[in-house]
Amino acid sequence: MQRIFSGIQPSGIPQLGNYLGALRNWVALQDGHECIYCVVDLHALTQWQEPAQLRQATREMAASLLACGVDARRHILFQQSAVHAHVRLAWLFNCVARMGWLNRMTQFKDKAGKDRENASTGLFVYPNLMAADILTYHATRVPVGDDQRQHLELANDIAKKFNHDYGVEFFPLIEPVILGVAARVMSLRDGTKKMSKSDPSDQSRINLTDDADAIALKIRRARTDPEPLPSEPAGLESRPEARNLVGIFAALADTDVAGVLGEHGGKGFDRFKEVLTALLVAKLTPIAEETKRWLADPATIDAVLREGAARARTIADPIVDEAERLVGLLQP
Ligand code: TYM
Repeated sequence: MQRIFSGIQPSGIPQLGNYLGALRNWVALQDGHECIYCVVDLHALTQWQEPAQLRQATREMAASLLACGVDARRHILFQQSAVHAHVRLAWLFNCVARMGWLNRMTQFKDKAGKDRENASTGLFVYPNLMAADILTYHATRVPVGDDQRQHLELANDIAKKFNHDYGVEFFPLIEPVILGVAARVMSLRDGTKKMSKSDPSDQSRINLTDDADAIALKIRRARTDPEPLPSEPAGLESRPEARNLVGIFAALADTDVAGVLGEHGGKGFDRFKEVLTALLVAKLTPIAEETKRWLADPATIDAVLREGAARARTIADPIVDEAERLVGLLQP
């Protein structure tokens, strides 16, 4: 059975892009794989976090993952900082990855913005920790949204260079699993920008705990153009906002863009937004309710994470012990 690893930052309640680009696939892949899912709190520290807020956001993210259907009994769900093997391997990878490779990472450029000199060094080596997350488990399949593709290519470059430098076949190559019509969900306010928790406008995203009124309002206000929906996918070219809403609908309805346009082509946005809202409410309300149920019992969330970490350690520790031995660290 192939091993899957994926992670998500503790940004509190996930937004629709996280769900459609990643979490839904995490859940679907649980049949037929051994899955390890992680709330990556160490990655969050690469940008300033208020400590109490970070702890709460980690719990909220864990509650959301459980509510989406991550099965912590059959698989592993844990918090990154609880398994020290990740940082041990990340240090080895800091010494394998090259400055030039990291300089090419578009996410660093986006997140550091104009003031690169003032970005944390953790933000710069962020992809090395991400490679360590995956390779600490010798995982081979990684379900993510499209924005993580470049990081996974870098992880493979690191694995290859490690194997080459030490003359071993120790780390496997990984395969990005980027699935579906909504691998890149865009902002509701600007169809050229990714939907993101860090967007200052809450109107730009749907959060998985938004209630029916909030969803209806956000979709009603979502930017569109004056044309009706086309009846063929080609008609969505140069219409990023229209393409985004159709993609969201297709993903939620388990169909494709052509299927949605076959049914709704010719409709104006007023009507299409109504059916989209109804679909979002139907799919997200059960998740919101389940999230609330989990959040009412934080002690159980903490216990799930603790037990997940203990199981993760039994896989991770021997692999990272061996990696340290391969590079010549003298082991106690
Ligand atoms: P993060 O926390 O930003 O996002 C978690 C997952 O959600 C996907 N995603 C999206 N997909 C489609 N449309 C969007 N608008 C959208 N926004 C987010 C992301 O692609 C991701 O799959 N670096 C990672 C976390 C990480 C990780 C790992 C992932 C750390 N270690 C090891 C995989 C394997 C991140 O910041 O994701």
